[in-house]
Amino acid sequence: MNFLENSGKALTNMGTFGAYLTAGYDGKFNPMTIGWGQIGISQGKSVFAVMVRQSRYTKELLDKNPVFTVSVPFDTSHKTSLAFCGSKSGRDYDKIKECKLETVPSKEIDVPGISGCMVYECRVIYKTEMSKEETFPECNEKWYKNGDYHTVYTGEILNYKEN
Ligand SMILES: Cc1cc2nc3c(=O)[nH]c(=O)nc-3n(C[C@H](O)[C@H](O)[C@H](O)COP(=O)(O)O)c2cc1C
Repeated sequence: MNFLENSGKALTNMGTFGAYLTAGYDGKFNPMTIGWGQIGISQGKSVFAVMVRQSRYTKELLDKNPVFTVSVPFDTSHKTSLAFCGSKSGRDYDKIKECKLETVPSKEIDVPGISGCMVYECRVIYKTEMSKEETFPECNEKWYKNGDYHTVYTGEILNYKEN
């Protein structure tokens, strides 16, 4: 299925329920809840850009193995798991095990998606470190008072599927 057909629904659901950003390597994977992201076109490719704060374990994982999946639930059934994955760190918990999440192997990358979701398989094509200097004052004030800026990882969408 063409990913664009469902991108509106995916963005709406991500903004409403949250979604799993899964990263990792060597068979160990960590889902983190995200609520912000962009689907679009860049450098002639279909892309999914995710925003990860410097403090996240997920940032360490993405910097080691720059591929990820975004898994967007169809409905509210993932509410409890998304709350856990959005408040606990993979440094302290095996979140897949704790939430009893079922993973689905990806076709194009070595990081799986999450069952019961729209799954985007992505490979990072560039990353952008946000900084105080390049961010508008009102945004610095609202979102980055503690200096924990986002890195934007723009991933080429290599495969899209619904599980
Ligand atoms: C609804 C929701 C949306 C979130 N969106 C983001 C996001 O877009 N980027 C981010 O860095 N953290 C976001 N977070 C916070 C992380 O999910 C949270 O800090 C998580 O525990 C980090 O996990 P990690 O240390 O295993 O990477 C969100 C949390 C919730 C509950």
